[in-house]
Parts: sequence; structure tokens; C-alpha cells
Amino acid sequence: MTKAQVGVLLALAALLAPAAPAAPPTPGGSLREDGAPCPPCHCKDDTLDCTGLPAPRDASWMQALTGWNETGLTKVLLDGVLPSATLAPLPAMPGVSTLSLRNNGLTDIASGAFLALSGLRALDLAHNKLTADAVRADVLRGAWQEDSYEPLSLTSLDLSHNDLHSLPRRALEHTKALRVLRLDGNPLRVLDHNTQAALAGAESLQVLGLSGCGLAALPADAALGLPRVLHTLDVSRNALTAVPRGLPSTLRRLVLDANPVRTLPAGDSLVPPFLHLDNLEELSLSYMPILEEVQVAAFFGLPRLRALSMAHNKALRQVHPAAFSHLGPSWTLTEVSLRNNSLRSLPPRLLAWAGLTFLDVADNPWHCSCNFTTWAAASLKGVNVNTRDRVRCSSPAELSGQPLWDASSTACSPELRDGIPPGQPSLFANALLFVMTASLVVLAVMVVRRLLPDRPPRLYGRAALARSSSVSKDPLYEAAAVDED
Ligand SMILES: *[C@@H]1O[C@H](CO)[C@@H](O)[C@H](O)[C@H]1NC(C)=O
Ligand SMILES: *[C@@H]1O[C@H](CO)[C@@H](O)[C@H](O)[C@H]1NC(C)=O
Ligand SMILES: *[C@@H]1O[C@H](CO)[C@@H](O)[C@H](O)[C@H]1NC(C)=O
Repeated sequence: MTKAQVGVLLALAALLAPAAPAAPPTPGGSLREDGAPCPPCHCKDDTLDCTGLPAPRDASWMQALTGWNETGLTKVLLDGVLPSATLAPLPAMPGVSTLSLRNNGLTDIASGAFLALSGLRALDLAHNKLTADAVRADVLRGAWQEDSYEPLSLTSLDLSHNDLHSLPRRALEHTKALRVLRLDGNPLRVLDHNTQAALAGAESLQVLGLSGCGLAALPADAALGLPRVLHTLDVSRNALTAVPRGLPSTLRRLVLDANPVRTLPAGDSLVPPFLHLDNLEELSLSYMPILEEVQVAAFFGLPRLRALSMAHNKALRQVHPAAFSHLGPSWTLTEVSLRNNSLRSLPPRLLAWAGLTFLDVADNPWHCSCNFTTWAAASLKGVNVNTRDRVRCSSPAELSGQPLWDASSTACSPELRDGIPPGQPSLFANALLFVMTASLVVLAVMVVRRLLPDRPPRLYGRAALARSSSVSKDPLYEAAAVDED
């Protein structure tokens, strides 16, 4: 909490204290219970919420809000209420740190629209119709001071779900403190030179949202076109067919969900896709509709990886037993979700199971062979497995629907040993064995008849009898016979 915020809270507390409710100026609108001005909106705590109001005819009521900063209001929500598609300069509201202008159909913004909001930290312009022209540098600037514009104090800017095909090169030059930028759901398609220049210029940017921007690739050396201190990148819901190369090594969190990646590494490539992401701690590879296979050493080069989400990939049937080999000299991976894939079993050496603090393997079609259930019961016993009751067998048919953990005793009963269920396969095997034995016997009889054509069958019978009596001389047999007595 900054000093300013503390100040605002103290002011608010003083204002709300029943003993001496100061009477601030009331420039217009209705009054709050405590006498503070509250235009035709809801005031609650430090928030002025005008969401869902019928659109006022003119913008004059906004001028009535100029006294806000003295009322302790710090959050202003003007979602879906603005009368015009062009945002006029906002009145002075130095106490306001959060401003939301979502869903206003805005197509344009007046120059210097926010310069009177000297305390503004978070600006939400999502779900409008802004094009590149509307986010030019002079929109996002502060007041003119001597010979230059003051920077805006913005740290978070949400421009998601607008109509941006690109960002102007200098769009962010007056927002040097910007740490979070959301561009999700804009039709960017590529990060062109202007967009890259704008992003590279945002020198404090740590979090960038590029989800659902129709990106089929990132620039070959993405690190050069992205901010230098970036630690979180969301490129989910794009058209990426491979993990982008050359991502900045500063990344700590990477979200690649819902991209059409078929294998990891992609295609015939042998280059580990995450090489050089030395600082990455969290990786999400979920909701990938066509991801089928994770190959050997796919996660090579992630020495700090702590959490991996590889869930809801309905086509994922195979994870190579050595997919995580060479993850790093010291194993740091402790949280893993493999939920809702199409995995039938887990390679015993896939992960350092005992070191996991969280594991989710629910909603996979587990094949409950004796081997697998025995291993799972023993190796995953101490692991904090999420939603254990949703970890169920899908095959063999006899065990379908049973919790994996209960299945080992049944799976290892003689009929089901090694996962061969009774029924057709074993019937077939028995039949085959019978036919083979029968043919051998027939063959043997024929051979014997050929070799001994003249001997009377009686002799052969005697010889056999003699041999069988010699069996009774076997010490084991005798011991057994003695026991029987
Ligand atoms: C509130 O804003 C007005 C007009 O900008 C300014 O004169 C006044 O000093 C501000 N008051 C506080 C408490 O920030
Ligand atoms: C499993 O994943 C599919 C595809 O991603 C999704 O549509 C479905 O809702 C998920 N099911 C569960 C139980 O989470
Ligand atoms: C079961 O486990 C044994 C030893 O652990 C192994 O040799 C065998 O191949 C496994 N069988 C199956 C079907 O996985």
C-alpha cells in the first residue's frame, strides 16, 4: 500500500467516523449518507459504481464529479454508461487510482484525456472499439511541464477486446511505469514492427497478455521485440503450431494454452522447445485440442520449473518416460496437473513423485493393469493427489469406473493378472493352446506309428507303464505318498 493510499484510507476513515462528518463541497448529484457527493451512481466504500445506469444524455454530470478526491473515492467504474463514442477529457480526480471504462463502444479518445487523473494507476478500456489511432502517444500522456509531457503514473492498462491491429510505435512512451498490459482478443495476427517497437519501449512491463490475438507465430527473435523485464506472457488461444523460439529468458510464467501444437517438440525438430528459459517457474500447456504426444526431453532446459499444468488435452495419449529428463541439476518441479488428458498409464520414472506437493491425474482413461495399480498404490501413496476419487479405471471392462487406488487387489487377482481380463482374449488363448497341444499329440502318435510299425501296441503300453512306475521311485513322490499315509 502506497503512502497515498494510506492517506486516502485515513481520510475516508475520518470522513466516515460518526463523530465529526466533515461536509465536503457538493458540486452536484445526490448526496451520500455521510454528506459526500455521489452522482447518480452507487457509492460503496471507496468505489463509485455507475455500471448499468441508463446512458445520460450529456456528459455534464461527469463534471459534477470533480470533488471526488475529497470524498475518499479511489475507484470509479463507468462501464457501459458513456453517452458518446469519443471519450472527452476526464475531470480532475486526483484521488482516483482505478478507472474502468469497459463496454462503452468507444472508438476514439481525446488527446490528454487522462492528464487530470494524476493518481491513476489502473485504466481499464477493455471491450470497446478502439483502433490503433485511439491509443496514440498523446492520449496516454500527462500534463505539459516546461518542455515535456509528464508521464502518466499508470501501472496497469487493459486494452483487451478492442479493434487493434497494431500499436503505434510511440503508444507507450508516456507510460514508463506500466507493468501490466493486456491486449487479449485484439485482431493483431502478427506482432508487426510498430507493435514490437511500442512493446520494447515499455521498459517496466512485466506482464503481457496476448491471448486470442490470432497470432500464428511470434517474431523470430521474440526477445528483442518484447519488454526486457517481462516475467509473465500469456499467448493462449492463438494459432501457434509450435512453442515460439527465443522467448525472453526473464520469463517466470508462460501460458501457451489452447494453441494447435501437435507434438512437443513440434514436428521432426529435436531442439528442446523451452531451451534457455532459465527462470521459468510456471508453464501451462492445457486445452490444446490436437496435442498428441510429448516426446523425449521435451522439457529440457527448465532448471527452475516449479509448476506444470498439462491438462484438458483430450488428444494427449503419450508422454515419453524421459520427457522430463535433464529438467535441471536440482529437481524443482513440485506441482503437476495431468488432469483430463487421454493417458492410460504413467511411466514409473516420469517424475520424481515423492517430491511433488500437488498432483492431479483425475479424468484420464487409466488402464488398471496389475502392474500399474500396484505401482500407483505404492508410489503415489504419500503424494498430495488432488481429487483422488476422480482417478478411476477405464479399462479393463471389469474395473471400469473403480477408483484406481482400490483396484490393485482386484487387478492382481489371477484372472486379471497383468491386465488380461477374463473373457474373449483368454478364451481365445486357451482354445489356441488346446488346438496346438492336440495337433502335437496327433503328430507324435503318427511319428511313433511310423517308427514302430511292427511292434504290437501292447509292448508300447508296457514300456509306458514301466516308466510311470519309475516315477513313483522319485523321492518327492515317495515323501508325498508317506504323508498321505
Ligand atoms: C482535490 O482536487 C482539487 C481539484 O483538483 C484540488 O484543488 C484539491 O487540493 C484536491 N484535494 C485533495 C484532498 O487531494
Ligand atoms: C476435458 O477437456 C475437454 C477439452 O479440453 C473439455 O471440453 C471438458 O470440459 C473437460 N472435462 C472435464 C471433466 O474437465
Ligand atoms: C510389469 O512389471 C514387470 C516388473 O516390474 C515388468 O517386467 C513387466 O514388463 C510389466 N508388465 C507390463 C505389462 O507392464
